[in-house]
Amino acid sequence: MTTFRIAPSILSADFARLGEEVRNVVASGADIIHFDVMDNHYVPNLTVGPLVCQAIRPHVQVPIDVHLMVKPVDRIIPDFAKAGANIITFHPEASDHIDRSLQLIRDNGCKAGLVFNPATPLSYLDHVMDKIDMILIMSVNPGFGGQSFIPRALDKIAEARRRIDESGRDILLEVDGGIKIDNIAAAAKAGADTFVAGSAIFGQPDYKAVIDAMREQLKG
Ligand code: DX5
Ligand code: ZN
Repeated sequence: MTTFRIAPSILSADFARLGEEVRNVVASGADIIHFDVMDNHYVPNLTVGPLVCQAIRPHVQVPIDVHLMVKPVDRIIPDFAKAGANIITFHPEASDHIDRSLQLIRDNGCKAGLVFNPATPLSYLDHVMDKIDMILIMSVNPGFGGQSFIPRALDKIAEARRRIDESGRDILLEVDGGIKIDNIAAAAKAGADTFVAGSAIFGQPDYKAVIDAMREQLKG
């Protein structure tokens, strides 16, 4: 049976109370904290860096999943590993040497993954599957929370699932962007096992009610 993981994105949290927000969302049933890093260069928005990751680290025991939307990627990787990241993913277009960046993440003791924008082909996986611990399929264009789910992402999730099954490796398949209570089941049916949700969770007063409702949908 598939283990499903809910990964709230702190992008929609109250940054003035971030420690409390991550504690609350984990107490409400979150399995992973999704940490969106934007640089106002690779994407048109600016968020947070390793200092903030380090600041929330003592507040939660669950893995912190750092989604790098930055270019270049390599020089920030060791800083996030030191700040307590457990998983680090990056966009292949943002790295000049994808194999090297993946290896750098692993050499720093983290799990490594690639992120695919709606128009980025999965062929970037062809020669690096042995260095991948997570595949992240974007179901919006990166840069902002609160956008609508792009339905074509479902085909991409299904293709990524086929590649993972063929590899025989233990690789998480995460989907990010526009995930809500009413579409999480479709993403799971396509093959996703890890679900990022920002505005759907932090936009509601009762985080546990949303996470419970998502899990209910995942029971099929
Ligand atoms: C978008 C980010 C997402 C974002 C998701 O670039 O990578 O993680 O926070 O937010 P929602 O769930 O609101 O689409
Ligand atoms: Zn993200």
